[in-house]
Amino acid sequence: MYPGGGMYPGSGMYPGRISTSYNRSDFESNGELIYYTGFNESDELIETEYGPHWLYVHGGSCVDCHGTDGRGGYPVMMGFEVPPDIRYESLVSEEHEEEEEHPPYTEETIKRAIREGIDPSGEPLDLTMPRWKMTDKDVGDVVEYLKTL
Ligand code: HEC
Repeated sequence: MYPGGGMYPGSGMYPGRISTSYNRSDFESNGELIYYTGFNESDELIETEYGPHWLYVHGGSCVDCHGTDGRGGYPVMMGFEVPPDIRYESLVSEEHEEEEEHPPYTEETIKRAIREGIDPSGEPLDLTMPRWKMTDKDVGDVVEYLKTL
């Protein structure tokens, strides 16, 4: 059974979002489900470390900071860094590198960023970005979803 009888809470922290809850049927893949809700297809709430307090209180996930299109760009409540563009193509492209002090991401370093909060040069990301305690499958599914954005 899904939490709340088939409904997932949404934090509503992303500007312009009206609907703050979701149905399982809104999502086509495990990666998309995690991106929007923070729950995986086995109904497990993915544990996080760091990130703002509202994430723990209201729930929420990637979408609440990086947006429905993955482009980020809006400051978030109680965040110090503005969430960046995390579309797969921009993370792995050389262009992304120009504004950043690290080499482009690879599939493996994207997974490390999500789980451990470390960028490709080995530097820790700002603590506004939660560290997600995901299984190999879940993090792989999320990266697959980032490729569709
Ligand atoms: C509370 C807001 C928040 C949430 C929720 C969040 N992020 Fe982030 N994320 C950030 C911020 C802020 C940064 C930038 C950190 C920095 O620059 O040091 C970031 C950075 C990243 C990066 C590294 C990008 C880069 O350019 O270095 C990736 C990849 C990423 N997030 C993926 C995710 C995924 C996948 C999820 C969901 C599982 C997620 N984030 C959830 C705020 C968030």
